Amino acid sequence: MRRLLVAGNWKMNASSSMAEALLSDILTADIQSCDVAVFPPFPYLAAAGVRLSNAAVQLGAQNCATADSGAYTGEVSVAMLQDVGCQLVLVGHSERRALFHETDAVVLAKTEKILAQDMTAVVCVGETLEQRQSGNAELIVKQQLSALLHQLKEAQWSQVVIAYEPVWAIGTGETATPEQAQQMHAFIRSLLAGVSQKVADETRVLYGGSVKAANAAELFAQPDIDGGLVGGASLTAEEFLGICRSI
Ligand code: G3P
Repeated sequence: MRRLLVAGNWKMNASSSMAEALLSDILTADIQSCDVAVFPPFPYLAAAGVRLSNAAVQLGAQNCATADSGAYTGEVSVAMLQDVGCQLVLVGHSERRALFHETDAVVLAKTEKILAQDMTAVVCVGETLEQRQSGNAELIVKQQLSALLHQLKEAQWSQVVIAYEPVWAIGTGETATPEQAQQMHAFIRSLLAGVSQKVADETRVLYGGSVKAANAAELFAQPDIDGGLVGGASLTAEEFLGICRSI
């Protein structure tokens, strides 16, 4: 049985006071019904790592370098992220694919770095509206996962979480219907079965794209949806905890 995970991707939104207040509210809530993770922007990770040390709430980073160290101005290595308390790293978010030209090959390289550091990679996939309307949604998601499916060893998948985030649902309020999301999640799980039934059974597949407290329960009730990767609704304790408490 896969334990549900609710992860908050703060994107480029935070201040020291906001981060402190939000983390305090999340810790005080003491959510037991699911796993909880937060992904603050880089500048707030170290303080969050101190605040969350010995807590059940997990800390993640929104990106990482493909290099280990050296002359890579502006980059942050997985070792540095782990050093400040991160256990997870997002990879391949559609905003990084679109705005920063993150290819499937880069996603694989970053994922391998994360796994080598004994951290968990949250690998994001998802189609655009045009790709869905042209009937290519599953083809796109399969393409985005293919390098990982071919390169990762079965045992490595225990350190991977997949987040299906239809691009047309991100930040739009146009949440995928539970049926749409379940159909893609089941397809992703069928791809994972190509590695092994154990990987298909045990890998968590999150849904992301306008998840709110009002729609989370119906989404998370789907058999192949194992929680959510939450953007906007992760920035307020009331909304984010409402999502966690809907489980
Ligand atoms: O990574 C999660 C994010 O892309 C979803 O954003 O605002 O639609 O919940 P949002």
